[in-house]
Amino acid sequence: MVNEKIMTQEFNKIEKVKGELSLPGDKSISHRAVIFSCMAKGTSKIENLSNGEDVRSTLKCFGELGVKSKWENKKLIIEGKGFKNFNAPLNNLDAGNSGTTARLLAGFLSAQPFESTLIGDESLSQRPMKRVIEPLSLMGAKFSTSSKQTLPLTIHPAEKLSPIIYDMPVASAQVKSALLLTGLHLEDETCIIESEQTRNHTEVMLGLRVEEKKGKRFIFSSRKNYPSAQNYFVPSDISSAAFFTVLTLLAKNSEVILRHVSLNETRTGIISVLKAMGAIIEIINQQTSNNELYGDLIVRSSELHSIEIYKEIIPNIIDEIPILSVASVLGSGKFEIRNASELRVKESDRISALVHNYKLLGLDVEEFPDGFSASGTIQNENPIFESFHDHRIAMAFAILSMFLQNGGSISNFDCVKISNPQFLEQVESLTK
Ligand code: S3P
Repeated sequence: MVNEKIMTQEFNKIEKVKGELSLPGDKSISHRAVIFSCMAKGTSKIENLSNGEDVRSTLKCFGELGVKSKWENKKLIIEGKGFKNFNAPLNNLDAGNSGTTARLLAGFLSAQPFESTLIGDESLSQRPMKRVIEPLSLMGAKFSTSSKQTLPLTIHPAEKLSPIIYDMPVASAQVKSALLLTGLHLEDETCIIESEQTRNHTEVMLGLRVEEKKGKRFIFSSRKNYPSAQNYFVPSDISSAAFFTVLTLLAKNSEVILRHVSLNETRTGIISVLKAMGAIIEIINQQTSNNELYGDLIVRSSELHSIEIYKEIIPNIIDEIPILSVASVLGSGKFEIRNASELRVKESDRISALVHNYKLLGLDVEEFPDGFSASGTIQNENPIFESFHDHRIAMAFAILSMFLQNGGSISNFDCVKISNPQFLEQVESLTK
């Protein structure tokens, strides 16, 4: 009881927001910058790395494999081990809450000449690993796991690995990246085929060959693409920026500048959807680093209306759906999403989490296997929302609470540390 109280975070109604934020690095790009730096031989430097727990989990796993790293002038310096030069781990590799760590490392570890076991927290231990186990096994990787094919997952050294041509049955950048990482250890090319484009940081950062034919993308990796040591600048996390973007759009008389936000085209669906809803978002100072585009966003108070969300854009906005629903419910009084069953296997079952919290507000809510709808007038002006220990649910309802007459509270709010430990300070700096 006491514990629950300590972790419940209250948010009061806000009037306006103003200021500027330089958010820490994008979580997906940070994971990859760490993994590629550890794989490369020699010294790499990473600037503006995500300070969330998830990326820390990736770095900790590589620490178990003998990689040394240290912080110097706010940059992470990594001494990469080079091709198959890692130490066999003495302990389990703990991916914590991070699906990206578990799935990408499953691919990387499949190509190593030692046994290793990936474990995770309660949430991650329920998330599907079959989606990586199946195609990696086709390449010759050897696993043992429970009949449910969830963590713990033991990866045995493979007798022989061979490249595959794999047409992805689920739209998942984690699965794609796991296979491409294994492919980096093989002389001949592995080819991944995507019908629905997912985030492309792995191929962009490694400079992989990508061909487009008849609406499909063919992505190739082989030993010649194995990463070398380099300096990285990680653009700010667009998924974290989305919370402050929606906060500014919904507040009156407000303007916020978000600096050097990732503008990778496989991630900017949230900006396109919000603009189609009437959002005023200006993009300036565009630049690239490590082939990744970024720029500053100027966001202003806007009148939002709801729009239909098409199937094709779902993989691009998959992590932003919780906050997008808040923008739509508060901006226009309704929201509907379909074709998004992947939301059920994220850090929480995000469909049932969103449905639960919108019901608390007294809205008309309908749940579907692949989505939900919410509409109507808010009845409860001081709810206690449940985070379901899911950082994006916690932050989405934190933003919503700031527009309720009497504010709102979020239980187990500390889970925001997964992607953005400084969320509260950032809110405070814009509202003071
Ligand atoms: C990620 C891919 C997405 C996304 C996750 C990060 C990545 O997951 O939801 O937050 O960095 O590759 P899926 O691959 O399961 O779609």
